[in-house]
Amino acid sequence: MCGIIGYIGEQQALPFLLDGLRRLEYRGYDSSGVAVKNGGITVHKKTGKVADLEAKLPASVEGTCGIAHTRWATHGGVTDENAHPHCSADGKIALVHNGIIENARNLRNRLENEGVKLRSETDSEVLVHLIHREISNGAKPLTAVRRTLKRARGTWGICVVFEDHEKIICARNGSPLVIGVGSGENWIASDTLPLQTLTQQVVRLDDGDLAEVSADGIKTSRFDGRTTDSEVTSLDGEWGEAELGDFPHFMLKEIHEQPEALRQCLTGRLDIKNGNARLGGIGLTAKQLQKIPHVRLLGCGTALNASQVGRIVIEELARVPTLAHVSSEFRHNNPVIETNALHFAVSQSGETADTLAAVKEIQLKGGEVRGVINVVGSTIARQCGRGCYIHSGPEQSVASTKAFSNMVAALSLFGIQIGRARTLSREKGKKLVKSLQKIPKLVGDYLEAPGPIEEVVDLVKDAKSVLFLGRGISAPVAREGALKLMEIAYIPCLAYPAGEMKHGPIALLEEGSPVVVIAPNDSLKDKTVSSIQECRARGAKIILIHEEGDPIAEEADISIPVPATDPMFTPMLTVLPLQLIAYQTALALGCDVDRPRNLAKSVTVE
Ligand code: F6R
Repeated sequence: MCGIIGYIGEQQALPFLLDGLRRLEYRGYDSSGVAVKNGGITVHKKTGKVADLEAKLPASVEGTCGIAHTRWATHGGVTDENAHPHCSADGKIALVHNGIIENARNLRNRLENEGVKLRSETDSEVLVHLIHREISNGAKPLTAVRRTLKRARGTWGICVVFEDHEKIICARNGSPLVIGVGSGENWIASDTLPLQTLTQQVVRLDDGDLAEVSADGIKTSRFDGRTTDSEVTSLDGEWGEAELGDFPHFMLKEIHEQPEALRQCLTGRLDIKNGNARLGGIGLTAKQLQKIPHVRLLGCGTALNASQVGRIVIEELARVPTLAHVSSEFRHNNPVIETNALHFAVSQSGETADTLAAVKEIQLKGGEVRGVINVVGSTIARQCGRGCYIHSGPEQSVASTKAFSNMVAALSLFGIQIGRARTLSREKGKKLVKSLQKIPKLVGDYLEAPGPIEEVVDLVKDAKSVLFLGRGISAPVAREGALKLMEIAYIPCLAYPAGEMKHGPIALLEEGSPVVVIAPNDSLKDKTVSSIQECRARGAKIILIHEEGDPIAEEADISIPVPATDPMFTPMLTVLPLQLIAYQTALALGCDVDRPRNLAKSVTVE
């Protein structure tokens, strides 16, 4: 959840570190810090944004080797002391850490009993003192780090610099690290985003790897001491445009990137002639798809909502039982795994700890998991080995938008592919493929004229709570709308399948309560009209998202039409106004849209 960047070479380290921190800020933004080697090691740390750290830095911090960190607090409050880097007592070693050291309390007690004064409340600080002790006992940096990590339990991505050695030692276990390969210089980062403008060549560390990085070399080895080959791979084509451009916020930019992102996801995967879809990376023949007893999808947050849409599409098109699970629950509930069933791990970042743990649980029980992932080469993508990339391009706003649409698009492609292998006719397949092909354009059309979003903002911004309702495929869309508004505008939101409303949430309604209803033109629409009437009878104000030209608009206090499409694909259109409502409401309330409080983009702790 935190971000790490490191540099070693002949150029000044600080500009790389600060630029890297700015690009990584979406991963955590409680506090940040840098350590630069310049004879000794100079450390500066500050709570708040990277800009606050920059403001505190002296005019020049010279040095050609350094490490930096942007933090999302887990152990210990948001204070300058708890910010990384952490230093040994003599200031000769500095360390940054992503992850959690589970036995930190134990290690702390032992260090304190031995007279070591710890300066922070973090779990991370123990590591630097243990490394220092190994160095004092004569160990070389790599050995000191390896021996220290043997005493630690938990997850880590760490970088360590030493006053007396021209190298950075890094190690990975559960928290990603990538080394950017340069000529006479190298970078280390917790994801590829800050590297893409610096180099296209990277070495990705695996769990259990350590690396000794100097200006002109990278030596990788395993936890047990075996040396390994540092396989250099290319970032080519991995990411699209990662800059803000003319947009005021990444969230708005990413909402508007959806037509192009969807095109990227669909391109080359539609077989119009045969009414079929091709997700080659899934690696399953039609014969194999016919034999699958059930499909299970795993995800968290927005990825879970997209999985729930995918669940309905796959079950409907292929008539195969399909379930979507909350990753964190699934892995702890001792799931029964059928080895010939098909599992999908759905994740934008490909780093979400709960989803990764669920993947490992399935694999441990002999099951196979395919990834539906955005970030190429991410941990879950590599753990699964097979699957499909959703090709959204970089998503930097904490609130996920274009990844939702592309996850739904990718799962819809799979629904058609498995459907065609089973019960779906060529004729119906063709109709679906043609509809799917038109989605990017329809999304663009809607975004050009999004309807009365400002009116909705006036209605919801001071509300005690907002209720979101939808039926069938629109029920997970309602959940996604509630999640968006809640996470960036901090308004309590409740999402319910419309039919469940009368079994409890109706008690919340009073004169003027805003209720957002998603009612596309599908077979469930008439039933949703009954739910609308039940809400109106209690004084609720109805914000209705519906198909263009549908007379259902008359049921609304505020009507937001979206273009018509096949009922299976409506989520990619009905979600758009919900994203804009959340964005505009957060803005109206003065919230930090791209960096909502307490959240981080990539949730790498369980
Ligand atoms: C919501 C949001 C989160 C993520 C969730 C899973 O806007 O961004 O709920 O969807 O943390 O993240 P990934 O998809 O990276 O596994």
